[in-house]
Amino acid sequence: MTYKHIKLDASIGAVGAEVTDVDLSQPLPKATISEIRSAWLEHHILFFRDQKLSPQAQANFAANFGDLDKYPFMQALKESPHVIPIIKEADAKMNFGGDWHTDTSYQLVPPKATLLYAVEVPEIGGDTLFADATAAYAHLSPALREMLEQQTGVYSPKLVHGAKGDYKGSEAEKNLGAAYGGDAAFAESEVEHPLIRTHAETGNKSIYCSIPHTVNIKGWTRQESLAIFKFLTQHFTQEQYVTRFHWTQGTLAMWDNRCIFHNALNDYPGLRRHMHRVIVKGERPA
Ligand code: SIN
Repeated sequence: MTYKHIKLDASIGAVGAEVTDVDLSQPLPKATISEIRSAWLEHHILFFRDQKLSPQAQANFAANFGDLDKYPFMQALKESPHVIPIIKEADAKMNFGGDWHTDTSYQLVPPKATLLYAVEVPEIGGDTLFADATAAYAHLSPALREMLEQQTGVYSPKLVHGAKGDYKGSEAEKNLGAAYGGDAAFAESEVEHPLIRTHAETGNKSIYCSIPHTVNIKGWTRQESLAIFKFLTQHFTQEQYVTRFHWTQGTLAMWDNRCIFHNALNDYPGLRRHMHRVIVKGERPA
């Protein structure tokens, strides 16, 4: 597509594009927002460097794309109820989001968009990997696609946030910070979504299940299901589907959780990383 109101560089990697010459801290004309929305649907992730965004300005920009949602396991900033801080202190060992996933796919209605803003980035490391789940799906064999499309997944926060989840234990809780918490019953809850999701706006199909958020394929054991989840993860993380994004302070990324997986790298021991995250409500996966 060609754009009149934004400049776009799609040569940054396998998926995503950088948008330049736009100041997101100011209210933008409808025509510019409409092009940003189209570019986001076309490229799945947009990156805007050198922005100066207060938490409220980030939330205001996000609200152009739908109603804002609340992340269930982290307290928002006092001054901005939809912005959560994601901080890894210099002495922390584990990071937030350090595995391949799409955001909160264990909710009945998961967010369609995540807008992540880099407040402070480490001098070295701290990149995020993004994988194109639509292109990866399209390159599976027709027979495997047909089998996967018939399957339902059981999705739950329990593998990460439940009583026996990866984020439990004193070391993990210390590393995730004081803002981390959430409802214990919800942390054990389960919902059903298709393994392969059809995008509500583009109609494209994408791999949706993930190792940390999908417990099993309905009617299959966890072990049997894991064999499929591991295969799909190995498949969509091949380099032809992945962009490794190097953050600079002031960058805003906006990704589409309906068709993108991401993984925050934890390769900056002794350094601090501080991000602000806002999510936009989506629709029930179908
Ligand atoms: C997330 O999973 O939302 C966090 C990603 C990151 O910090 O790069």
